[in-house]
Order: sequence, then C-alpha cells, then structure tokens
Amino acid sequence: MIVVVIGSQWGDEGKGAVVDNWGKKADYFVRVQGGANAGHSVIVGGKKIVLHLVPSGVTYAQADCLLGNDMVIDPKGLIKEIDDLSAAQALNCKSLGISPLAHLVMPYCLELEKLREQARGNNAIGTTGRGIGPTYEMRARRLGIRMEHLRHLDIMPDYVKTILAEINPEIRHWGGQGFTQKDMLGFLEQYAPYLVPMIVEYPISVTICAANAKGENVLIEGAQGLELDITHGTYPFVTSSSTIAGGACSGAGIGPTMIKKVIGVTKAYCTRVGAGPFPTKINGGLAAQIQKRGNEFGATTGRPRDVGWVDATQLAHAARINGLTGLVITKGDVLQGIEPKICTHYVYQGRKITNFDELDCCELSKAEPIYETLPGFSEDISGCRKFEDLPKGAQELFSKIQTYAGVPILAISVGPERGQTIIMKDLWQ
Ligand code: GDP
Ligand code: IMO
Ligand code: MG
Repeated sequence: MIVVVIGSQWGDEGKGAVVDNWGKKADYFVRVQGGANAGHSVIVGGKKIVLHLVPSGVTYAQADCLLGNDMVIDPKGLIKEIDDLSAAQALNCKSLGISPLAHLVMPYCLELEKLREQARGNNAIGTTGRGIGPTYEMRARRLGIRMEHLRHLDIMPDYVKTILAEINPEIRHWGGQGFTQKDMLGFLEQYAPYLVPMIVEYPISVTICAANAKGENVLIEGAQGLELDITHGTYPFVTSSSTIAGGACSGAGIGPTMIKKVIGVTKAYCTRVGAGPFPTKINGGLAAQIQKRGNEFGATTGRPRDVGWVDATQLAHAARINGLTGLVITKGDVLQGIEPKICTHYVYQGRKITNFDELDCCELSKAEPIYETLPGFSEDISGCRKFEDLPKGAQELFSKIQTYAGVPILAISVGPERGQTIIMKDLWQ
C-alpha cells in the first residue's frame, strides 16, 4: 500500500514524528520534494534527531529510504546529515538511495538566494537560505544539474560553461562575484565519488511500483505544507515545489490511482515561519506562551515560528486540494490550560467568507478571522492513549477540528516522543 503523509498548514505540523510513529510496518520511506528547507523532528528513546533531506524512517532497520525525483539536494548538507545520523547511531535503515532525477543545489543557487533576499528588503520571502528557489528555477530553465549528471562528468565542462554564462551576470548584478567553471567542476568532482554510489540504478518509480505490486508498504513523506505549495499556497510567500499529495505522484513516479491513503497532519493550533499572510496569527503573552510550550522554533533555521489558531476554512482547503482521507492532529497537549479558539470563517469588506479560495493572497492578509471559543482542558493529556481517556474539553477540541476539516481522525499525537499517540485507526489496514 502507498500512503502519503502531508503537511496541511504552513509546515512544521509534526510530519516527522507522524512518519516515525507509523514506521514499524513500512518497507520504504520516500521523501519526494523540497530539500533541506525541511526540518523533521523525531524523538526516539529521549534522543532527538532532526532530518532535513533523509526520510524520517531512517531509524527503522527493516526499511529502505529514498530521496525522490523532485528533491533538491545540497551535497555538503546531505553528507553532514548522514555523518551526524551515523554518529548518533540513528542511521539504521537497510539502504539509503537517491533518485537520479533529483537536482543538486549548487553553490551559485545558495549565493543567488542570499543576494536576492537581501535586495528584496520588505518584500523578502523569509526563505530558509537553503538554495531551494534558485535550484527549482534552474530546473525549470532546463539548466539544472541532476544527480545522474554526476555519472557523466565528461560532459559537464560544456554544460557548466552554459550555466555560468547565464547565472554569473545575474550574480554580479546583485553585487556578487560570480563563479568559475573550474571551481564548479571541482565541486562536482569532489562530491561525485560520494553521491554516485547512492544514486539508484533506475528512477525510483520502478522500485516503488514493484514494491506496491508485491504488497509492500510505502510511506511517502511530504515536506512543508499545503499553504507553502507553489500553486495552491499563499503565493508568492511559498516554497518552490509542489507540496501537495498530487505532487507526490511526480516525486515518487507513481500514478494517482496508486495512492491508497492521504494523511494530513495538522496542529491543534497553527504556526508559520517566514513572511506572508497568516490570518489567525495571535500576538502578545498568549502567543509567547504557546511558542515556548510548543517549542515553536524552526528545526532548520532556529527562527521563532509565529503562532495562531486552527483555521477551519484553511483546513477544508487542505482537505480538498490533497483529497485527504485521514487526519493526524498533533500538539494538543501544548494547549493544556489554554482556552482554544478555532476560526470558523472570515469577514472581508463586510462579507462572510467561509471558503479559503474566495480570497486571494492580498485579500487574505486583510481578512478578519471570526472565532469559536472552546472550553479547553486543564489536565495533562500527554499520557492518554485512548480517546475515551481524554478530558471532555480535549475531546471536543479534536472532534471540532475533525468536523471542520471534514476528514476522519486517524491519530492524535499528545507528545513529541515515539508512541505518544492515540491511535483511532491503523494506518496500514
Ligand atoms: P515537521 O516539519 O512537520 O516534521 O515538524 P517539526 O519537526 O519541524 O516541528 C514539530 C515539532 O513538534 C517538533 O519539535 C516535534 O518534536 C514536536 N512534536 C510533534 N508532535 C508533537 C506533539 O504531539 N506534542 C508536542 N508537544 N510536540 C510535538
Ligand atoms: P517542514 O518540512 C516551515 C518556508 C520558509 C519561507 C518559505 C520559502 O519542516 O515543514 P524556502 O527556503 O522553501 O524557499 O522558503 O517557506 N518553509 C517552511 N516553513 N516548515 C518547512 O518545512 C518549510 N520549508 C520552507 O520559512 O517562508
Ligand atoms: Mg519542520
């Protein structure tokens, strides 16, 4: 069975922990898009690991891990991540393979992003600085460097020359130095011996389809979240890849009909890091309290995440665009002793707005959120393992989220550790 786990807000919903929690029965873990802009945290036996490029199932010895077709991979970052995982004795998976179709984040992509974000001033996106945007741009421009190119270093002098002829003037325009052909070829030659043995022989599509045909379990791990999707998110304050379930088809090389379940991960509140509209954002002491309790600091950049309430219109948007079949609600434990709210709709220019898609990105930043306030709960719920064990206020909160999303709850996560979960239904059945 092929299952996709996807972020249904603005990222950092707890996808890593969810993937880890369902990992025992997975034969393959596959990251399909994005790059080291992702930071997926997994806590096993009190030990925290943060994955950026490697799938969150890396600790499971029975499984193979794949870095998929639509990923953008910084070789230096990948090597460091693998070394760190080895040092932490967390690199236990059967194999770690890279799709030949994935692209390399080149040094000029990192430089371009830095220079352009600086130049944009107030219009900066607030990117993670991992070279994501420029690498996807180069891919779309048909001047990207794929993993498979590393097998053909003989053709690279010419190709790199063409790339630099286009990219250096832009870098210089923004005040940078530009890059030499010699240095870029040196970069590729330096990393090729390490990466080439990890590149799988055929596109991962072949492996995944064969596994599915044999009845094996494939867990596809989305990165970022719906509202950061290049098409459906709050453009232009988005990432540069397709973060939706549909994108997983390209990133894994599978047809849509092969996906059995699409699981949306949502917090019992909401966070966003970087610029762009966030209608349910809260400020002041309460925001600081949730931020501190929920440890809402970016797993990649360490930036504080803005905090807000669950937005019913936004969740319904996520359910529709992704075709969600199940929901995992995380971090409800953080709201102990806090009166939770859910935004049921907006008011924009005197109009009641119940559908997220009724407003474009500019209008969204001016929309007034209208809330329903819930009683909440005062008890510690982190030890609960059954829905019936939860205090009434917590049950009501989770049930409301389920109703507004229109998607049944599969699990409720009540703490960051593996196993701190209320399972409503087995993912693999
Ligand atoms: P991801 O990018 O979606 O994988 O999420 P991140 O790892 O960036 O951020 C989620 C954070 O919340 C991490 O620090 C997790 O350890 C933590 N976390 C995940 N689920 C829960 C939960 O149910 N309760 C609490 N308190 N923390 C959680
Ligand atoms: P995970 O997988 C939260 C945000 C950045 C910025 C925008 C564009 O951990 O949920 P980029 O570097 O991609 O060009 O930045 O997207 N962003 C994320 N926010 N979680 C993430 O990943 C993110 N990946 C990118 O903060 O606003
Ligand atoms: Mg994250």
